[in-house]
Amino acid sequence: MAEIVSEKVAIIGSGVIGQYWAMIFASGGYHVSLYDIDQSQVSRSLTAVKERLERYEQQGCLRGQTSAAEQVVLISGHTNLTECLKDAIYVQECVPEVAELKTKVFEQMDEMLSDSIVAASSSSCLGPSMFAGGMKNRDRVVVAHPVNPPYFIPLVEIVPGPWTAPDVIQKTQSIMRKVGQSPVTLKSEVPGFALNRIQYSIINECWNMFKEGILSAEDIDVVMRDGLGPRYAFIGPLETMHLNADGIVDYCKRYADGAYKVGQTLTIPPVQYDVPTA
Ligand code: NAI
Repeated sequence: MAEIVSEKVAIIGSGVIGQYWAMIFASGGYHVSLYDIDQSQVSRSLTAVKERLERYEQQGCLRGQTSAAEQVVLISGHTNLTECLKDAIYVQECVPEVAELKTKVFEQMDEMLSDSIVAASSSSCLGPSMFAGGMKNRDRVVVAHPVNPPYFIPLVEIVPGPWTAPDVIQKTQSIMRKVGQSPVTLKSEVPGFALNRIQYSIINECWNMFKEGILSAEDIDVVMRDGLGPRYAFIGPLETMHLNADGIVDYCKRYADGAYKVGQTLTIPPVQYDVPTA
C-alpha cells in the first residue's frame, strides 16, 4: 500500500472544482476536509466523489497508488469552517467566481489561518488583490487556478498577489507537484493569467478570420484539431520553434521577419465578439 501522509488539506466549496480537488489531494494521500455553506451539498459531494473514484478505478484511470476505498476514507465533509480548517496545512478555496463572495470567505478564514498555512484560491479570473487585500494574513494567500477537469488536465496557474510570501509560492508549487499537478508560476497578477491570455489570442484570431470570411468555422476547427492541436499536445510553442530549425536563434533568423509581418496584420485591439442570436 502507498504512503498516506498525515497532513490535512481543507477545501472550501464542494461544487465541481472542490470535488475534483478533494479527489486529487486524496490520491496524493492527504486527509481532506471538504466544507460547504450548504449542508445538503456536502452530502451530495461526498456521494459524487465516492461514486466517481470507484468508477475511475473500474475504468483504470484512478490516480495515486492507493485504492478508491482507501482514498474515499481520507475525505470527510464539514459545515463548520473552524473544524474544517483545524490543523490544515493548505486550504483550497472553491466558492463561485464572485469577488465579494471570495472576499467574505477569505475574511472569515483570516483569524483562523496559521503563520505557516497556504490559503489558495481556485479563482479563474480574480487575482489575490481583488479579494484578499484587506486581510491581516494576506501574505498567506495565492491563486492556484486549475483547468477543468483538473483530475485529467494537470496544469495549475499559481498567481501571487503583491504581498504573497515567497514560502507560500514555494509550498504551493511543492504540494501541486506532490499530487501530480503541473504548476506554472506567474510573477504578478495579469488579466487572464497565462492559459486564458494564450487561449483568447487564439480565439480572437479565429473569430477575426471567420468574420472576414477567410475561413469557415469548420475549417478553423480543423486547423486546430489536425494541425496546431496535435503538435501542442506534445510540445510547447517555444520548444516547437527550437525544433523547427537549428535551435531557436536559427528559427528567429529564418522566420522572424515573416512572423513580424504576419503579426502586423493581426487585429489589435481584439474584435468585439458578436454574441450569436439563437
Ligand atoms: P460551483 O458553483 O460548482 O461550486 C461552488 C460551491 O461553493 C457550491 O457548492 C456552493 O454551495 C459553495 N459555496 C457558496 N458560497 C459559499 C461559502 N460562503 N462558503 C463555502 N462554500 C460556499 O463552482 P465551481 O465551478 O466549482 O467553481 C469554483 C471556483 O473554481 C470558481 O472560482 C471558478 O472560477 C473556479 N474554476 C472553475 C472551473 C470550472 O470549469 N468550473 C475551472 C477552473 C476554476
